[in-house]
Amino acid sequence: MKSLFKRYTPLQIIVHLYAWSALVHLLFDMATGNLSANPIPELEQRTGRHAITLLILALACTPLNTLFKWSEPLKRRRALGLYAFMYATIHIIIFIDLDYGLAWSLIIQTIFEKPYIVVGMLAFLMLIPLAFTSFDIWKKRLGKKWKRLHKIIYLIAPLAVLHYAWGKKGDFFRLQGEIILPLIYAVIVIIFLVMRIPQVRKITASLRDRIRLLFRKRALQAETPSR
Ligand code: HEM
Repeated sequence: MKSLFKRYTPLQIIVHLYAWSALVHLLFDMATGNLSANPIPELEQRTGRHAITLLILALACTPLNTLFKWSEPLKRRRALGLYAFMYATIHIIIFIDLDYGLAWSLIIQTIFEKPYIVVGMLAFLMLIPLAFTSFDIWKKRLGKKWKRLHKIIYLIAPLAVLHYAWGKKGDFFRLQGEIILPLIYAVIVIIFLVMRIPQVRKITASLRDRIRLLFRKRALQAETPSR
């Protein structure tokens, strides 16, 4: 156990544990017949939710660094992104194979009949180049283009949230239907997007430094013995 903690950081362990345990849980429920009366939609929903959660966690890494000067999440971003891609791929395989039995003409018809599926497909198509170029070799090969390419994550996340919210058929304006979770995801993505604006970043960083300074001063005052 000690050597495990020497080799991996707690955050690294949490990331891998969450990603794999969710899959094991899913497979276990499948094997033991522990799914609901509609197992295929349930599998689609669970894999979709894991995909979007991991995607948003990957997106949270930069704001965490900006807010707390905590750089470790930046090192976990690739794993989170790749796990999001893994769950999105499983999600789509379930849709194509288990749900539609590889009936391609029906799949294509459904895609174009249901706009939320077109949106999901767009998000997935954009995730593919990100996943394949996420490795260091591609980072080196693409140079500046790599950063530019990987910025499409800021388009993918809103599309994935839109796919989620639209699929739920809730009414955001009347606050009806299953809108709470999609709404929470939407607010988080909007905050992360706003935090990318350079001026907002500057203000956040200076606010963070001031708060840190204040805490340091307080700690120093507490340490200094009063006469
Ligand atoms: C070709 C691409 C995609 C297809 C065909 C697809 C298909 C579907 C379908 C059919 C559902 C409805 C399941 C149900 O309620 O019965 C669904 C829901 C969902 N999908 Fe996708 N999807 C795609 C891409 C994505 C991607 C890229 C993400 C996230 C990164 C995603 C996340 C979700 C989420 C969060 C839900 C809602 C889960 C819930 O109801 O709790 N999907 N998708």
